[in-house]
Amino acid sequence: MRVALVGLGVVGRSFLELVAKNRGELVSRYGLGLRVVFAADRSGGIYRASGLSPDEILDAKREGGISRVANTRFYANVLDALQDFEADVLVDATPTNIVDGEPSYSIIRRAILREMDVVTVSKGALALYMPALKEMASRRNVLLKFSGTVGGGMPVLAFARECSRADRVEAIEGILNGTTNYILTKMEEEGLDFRQALAEAQRLGYAEADPSLDVKGLDTACKITILANEVLGMKANVHDVKVTGIENVSAEEVNRARYSGKAVRLVAFAGDGKIEVRPRELDVRDPLAVKMAMNAVRFKTTFSGSHVITGKGAGGTETATAIIRDITSIKIKRTEAGENA
Ligand code: HSE
Repeated sequence: MRVALVGLGVVGRSFLELVAKNRGELVSRYGLGLRVVFAADRSGGIYRASGLSPDEILDAKREGGISRVANTRFYANVLDALQDFEADVLVDATPTNIVDGEPSYSIIRRAILREMDVVTVSKGALALYMPALKEMASRRNVLLKFSGTVGGGMPVLAFARECSRADRVEAIEGILNGTTNYILTKMEEEGLDFRQALAEAQRLGYAEADPSLDVKGLDTACKITILANEVLGMKANVHDVKVTGIENVSAEEVNRARYSGKAVRLVAFAGDGKIEVRPRELDVRDPLAVKMAMNAVRFKTTFSGSHVITGKGAGGTETATAIIRDITSIKIKRTEAGENA
């Protein structure tokens, strides 16, 4: 399967590392031979039809820029590149932008128009235009996968699909941002101040390229929007979410909650026609009161009660596993449909 990778930040690089490590297993378990034919970052993209090795891309990236990789065609503009060469899957690991969804929005659209299946871990384009993108993909028989946009490595969308199979999910509630959860836990348990805790979350690769998206609750708002569309069938975008971030949560508030058996957490909610994100005090025994960069999501169903999934919601390697999961599922679907993949 020929892969075009756009975005070489923490997640894009982790994806390449994972491809290098798991190559043998992907072939033996799924018959999935991945060939990365294109890799791009802000500086442009490089293409080689016979495939680029993950190591040569990562080495060049470390040593001054991907244009140093020999025997490749260089494109200054990713959209021109996607128009020019053939690939089976586009992997979009560009940073989330919720102002206009770019560059993800144009890149995904271009890939769909070229009939490439799409795996995205970027949240902006989906949070703004999910119904339109899904419809566009379905009209062109393109698979649009985005399991890494919510929950990092934790398969929350697949879990939700299972919960909905013979039942109906009525409401969703969850901790969907690793960075803010890490900050709140560090304030709670180690008395770190907000800035110190955020710096640690950035160093560990949890935070967005623009960490204000995390802190202001906007990353969480994108994720609950994606869940609300996918699981509750709402036609919502991120502007429909009432959002309050954690920037005004004080050390005193966190401590006060702690001494009364509570934990302050940034909680997202979708249901009863509304979507919101705000800091709330949870009972420490509530399964949603997870610690550090963990995520937790509760699906309230009509017949079978509530189901909770918890797992690592942020981190390069964790999110890269979601990309591989989506590519694997594309391979399975295309093979079942009798198409070459
Ligand atoms: N910045 C995000 C978080 C990354 O902290 O959860 C995963 O989407």
